[in-house]
Amino acid sequence: MTGRTVSLETITDMETLKNLCLRIFLPAPGENIVFGEGPEPARLALIGEAPGKEEAKTGRPFVGNAGRLLNKYLEEAGIAREDVYITNVLKVRPPGNRTPGKAEIKESLPFLLRQIELIHPAVIVCLGSIAVQAILEPKAKITQIRGEWREKDGTKVIPTYHPAAIFHDEEKKELFKKDLLQVGKVLRGLE
Ligand code: URA
Repeated sequence: MTGRTVSLETITDMETLKNLCLRIFLPAPGENIVFGEGPEPARLALIGEAPGKEEAKTGRPFVGNAGRLLNKYLEEAGIAREDVYITNVLKVRPPGNRTPGKAEIKESLPFLLRQIELIHPAVIVCLGSIAVQAILEPKAKITQIRGEWREKDGTKVIPTYHPAAIFHDEEKKELFKKDLLQVGKVLRGLE
């Protein structure tokens, strides 16, 4: 990231925010930034950790194995993926897919928070500990907080597992499914 100071509050549209991210976050050669995708505004926003290999290749969030699993559970919960805004805390893939570091999260967070303000969701789902620690509680443990509804600036927030963490764990799959079913119900209740 450059040392440039920007006042993100002055940015009032997603295209400008995206262009700023394109100038600031530098992906590895051959990779793309993954800004996020979905309707604007959206009633539901999903926040993941950081783009993986497939995402960096395509420039789209959650299009790899974790994304396919996510799609399956969204569908089971009666939530259409195309109605959801999906993004990540980090906009570029950390080298070697490692867990994002504190400094990376700190420099990416203002962009995510502005993005959320512009999407103006009624419900946010934090997928995994990086998302929940970034936007809700810095010391939260996902195993303790998952499935518990919280509020952030008037928006309902529910933490759940990251889909990549449930692959080989039937119990976690059930809990993930339960959380998304809850989300579907809440969204329908808000209609
Ligand atoms: N994992 C994430 O956290 N985000 C993606 O977009 C893909 C995998």
